[in-house]
Amino acid sequence: MERRKAIKKQRKGIKKSYRITVVGCGHVGLVTGACFAELGYKVCCVDKDKKKVSSLKKLILPFYEPGLFELVEKNYKERRLEFTPDLKKAIKSAQVIFIAVGTPPNPDGSADLSSLERIAYLVAKNLNSYKLVVEKSTVPVQTGEKIKETILRYRKNNRPFDVASNPEFLREGKAVHDFLHPDRIVIGVESERAEKILKDLYRSLKAPIVVTDINTAEIIKHASNSFLATKISFINAVARVCDLAKANIDKVAEAMGLDPRIGKEFLKAGIGYGGFCFPKDLEAFLYISKKLGYEFTLLREVKRINEEQKKYFVEKIKDYLWILKDKKIAILGLSFKPDTDDMRFASSLDIIEYLLKEGSRLVLYDPQSKKEAKKLLKGKKVKFAKDPYQAVRDCDCVCFLTEWDEFKRLNFKRIKKLMRMPLIADGRNMLDRAYVESLGFKYLGMGK
Ligand code: UDX
Repeated sequence: MERRKAIKKQRKGIKKSYRITVVGCGHVGLVTGACFAELGYKVCCVDKDKKKVSSLKKLILPFYEPGLFELVEKNYKERRLEFTPDLKKAIKSAQVIFIAVGTPPNPDGSADLSSLERIAYLVAKNLNSYKLVVEKSTVPVQTGEKIKETILRYRKNNRPFDVASNPEFLREGKAVHDFLHPDRIVIGVESERAEKILKDLYRSLKAPIVVTDINTAEIIKHASNSFLATKISFINAVARVCDLAKANIDKVAEAMGLDPRIGKEFLKAGIGYGGFCFPKDLEAFLYISKKLGYEFTLLREVKRINEEQKKYFVEKIKDYLWILKDKKIAILGLSFKPDTDDMRFASSLDIIEYLLKEGSRLVLYDPQSKKEAKKLLKGKKVKFAKDPYQAVRDCDCVCFLTEWDEFKRLNFKRIKKLMRMPLIADGRNMLDRAYVESLGFKYLGMGK
């Protein structure tokens, strides 16, 4: 209600006159564009992929994100949101340009920033009036400086521009909520004009705004994601000790989390973090720190622990079953976390690889990511089941690799009857151990 009032108020105000262009219709770009449109601004979303743009115009979204379709549909129909492949035109018509293109990892861990350079070049060539160019994608520190240098280098006139950093902290599956209800908004700027525009744009969101310089804003993003990954690897390392000491990691995490200095979030032990952000961002931070002259060995260890967790999970099953060759194993959950079909850098991919190397026969099931999984596992000897019950039939072990709600509601009595050997390997510590053991299952958890 309050937010609606705020939006109404804002629509009446001058702020709505800012015209925004968002470059890149990926997860970050599309959510950013749709949410700014929802806040009352006129937004043009650009993507070089013409097919994607024409699908978006038919309201077909390239990925699933809760709540996003509704925002896109509403704002597109009300003409606050438009889609185009024409970047030059979109640059010319905008005052604020958010760059949300991909920065995929190079083989050496550095980020591929060629798309950013191209956009900076095109901004320079199409600088028909003042523009604020804002980095939204996760980029290595000092990228803002490079964008500025590039625009200055190719600019044919003296029209003013600013570069700013405004890192996103959106989680997949909660991205719309995270945009509209942020914990904080970080703004890295070099001029009062840029600061004012960005503060204006976000005014109705009522979140604390941290204003700083561009390099600091870029580091805030690196440090936040790396710290969260560190928290996960820390608790996973403690889980290893819990296994050895016969202690319970869930209780350890619960008690630790009650200390407000620690906090309860991101203390869930299991098969480690995956997804398109943490592995890539950690790698990029390691790379850039080294390039600047600092060996961030702590992060190297965070990464090593994360990789080891997946091997450790398979070792646990092997310890119990002795021989994995020809054992039939069901994998329930493939996406890197629940409520998404995203399988990029999912922990399940490594675990599947290790089990296949051991010669196991795998049957996979995921509520959303079957299509993605089929693409990524093309040529691998795996089968897909239509539901969890079909997956576990005659299996020697069932692995839980993503904590989908639907798995918590499974009929475990039925599952036990269907399996050849009632073994549960719970990679996400999501099941009630006492309950499944009372049904006669052997339960392997991660640190409990
Ligand atoms: C993350 C950050 O949370 C977000 O702020 C940033 O902008 C993008 O990267 P996302 O990748 O969508 O978001 O997923 P997140 O919910 O953070 O989970 C990342 C991974 O960590 C998942 O594989 C998840 O299963 C794992 N995880 C998370 C744990 O293993 N334990 C935890 O306690 C929390």
